[in-house]
Amino acid sequence: KRVAILISGRGSNMAALIEAARAPDYPAEIVGVLSNRAAAPGLATAAANGIATASLAQSKFLSRDMFEDTMTQILESWEVDYVCLAGFMRILGEDFVNHWLGRMINIHPSLLPAYKGLHTHERALADGVTEHGCTVHFVTPGLDEGPTILQARIPVAAGDTPETLAERLLVEEHRIYPEALRLLASHQVKL
Ligand code: GRF
Repeated sequence: KRVAILISGRGSNMAALIEAARAPDYPAEIVGVLSNRAAAPGLATAAANGIATASLAQSKFLSRDMFEDTMTQILESWEVDYVCLAGFMRILGEDFVNHWLGRMINIHPSLLPAYKGLHTHERALADGVTEHGCTVHFVTPGLDEGPTILQARIPVAAGDTPETLAERLLVEEHRIYPEALRLLASHQVKL
């Protein structure tokens, strides 16, 4: 199965997917990385791994639909079966989401349905939760609302800051994202 990853920044989850997909028995190959920011550090990581890259700024398009149609054209030129959002910081429109429905997944740094949206670590700490986590889910038109594929949980430690929590959680993100893509690409989960 052919997979593209959409990023906006660092791309550490992207790197974890690329690394996992190198295993000979992994059911998917990462064939392209698309960023909405030309300066995303993850683009250089992808290129260094011999993966096709593209970047496209939404601000250069007259509408979100035109931007997203162009993204779909690029993804289709790469002949992708699945799309992984990995720190892609734009909300996607309904047409784009429906075009890829069942074939697009996202990683979110909270135990969904808790803490949809941004600043999840800050909000979880402010609430005094004892447990935090991350979720890989199918992308559906409602923001961070699609059905869960996998979750990982970590305990919140006394003295945790948003930064320490994010750092510990990232280890779990890098573990469950490749596992969730493996389940999807081998038809063990479907929407
Ligand atoms: C991760 O925390 C991910 O869960 C969230 O954005 C962050 C992206 O980090 N959606 P990276 O670009 O994968 O390093």
